[in-house]
Amino acid sequence: MRSVIDITDLSKEELASLMETANDIMKDPGKYAHACAGRKLATLFFEPSTRTRMSFEAAMYELGGSVISMTDGATSSAAKGESVSDTAKIVSCYADIIAMRHPKEGAALVAANAASVPVINAGDGGHCHPTQTLADLLTISREKGRLCDLTVGLCGDLKFGRTVHSLINALSRYENIRLVLISPEELRLPDYVYNDVIVKNGMKCVQTPDLMWALPQLDVLYMTRVQRERFFNEEEYLRLKDSYILTKEKLNHARPDMIVMHPLPRVNEISVSVDDDPRACYFRQALYGKYMREALILMLLSECEKNDAKTY
Ligand code: NCD
Repeated sequence: MRSVIDITDLSKEELASLMETANDIMKDPGKYAHACAGRKLATLFFEPSTRTRMSFEAAMYELGGSVISMTDGATSSAAKGESVSDTAKIVSCYADIIAMRHPKEGAALVAANAASVPVINAGDGGHCHPTQTLADLLTISREKGRLCDLTVGLCGDLKFGRTVHSLINALSRYENIRLVLISPEELRLPDYVYNDVIVKNGMKCVQTPDLMWALPQLDVLYMTRVQRERFFNEEEYLRLKDSYILTKEKLNHARPDMIVMHPLPRVNEISVSVDDDPRACYFRQALYGKYMREALILMLLSECEKNDAKTY
């Protein structure tokens, strides 16, 4: 049973094939309209979400499948003390595939080990968020025309931002990527990502607190929200929350072909005046996420079909 917990569960070839499928769905959605007929997706969300849950659900409907949904841990048996493993076993009886978000790091892996259907990690605490990375890769590839030879600036909460951790992991597989990690000292990338991914793969990387210094060098600027829900201390959050605010004026210092990305939701870190700039692609990024989730659901369910065919 194949689950996707971390972006490294997908090979570089599979990433390319998922992007190809997503581009093809965009071109010819009718061809895929019944691809998952009779199949059910369960979305289990123990943490707030708009884009991720709704794009998974829209993706399944657009493939002709149906959806059962748990949108809030507080109204499920988790509130009675049920373990993630038990919930995953039970939901495996009702659905063909599960997308799960949970506040605890590692919860998706626990669910995958217990489930008898594929589990897709839709975000586990401050750890990782592989399907956001699928959206990010398709965005970079479509907007820049390549996934290699890029200087990528990641700005904001690099400590708790799970989308950043997964994206760095994915980018480490492409040629000639230079990372500029822009964050206050307190929100620097965790050592386990810095050492195990950046250093281990010999990626070019600089760390700076200075967005204005970094801006003119970048092909891609990936802004992130300061992750309030992961702070132990509200005062610390309030002190750090507006560390970076990208404005129209600041963008004047960026290359004319730089793209601005953000996994969303944004709070203050990108001023709304930036939205009209042709370099702002965060709303398209959210749309691309739906197509990549369609491609992933298709891939995992068709692998199950092949395995079932082998069994019987
Ligand atoms: C991100 C997340 O949940 O990690 N949102 C998303 O899925 N697009 C980013 C965030 O919440 O800041």
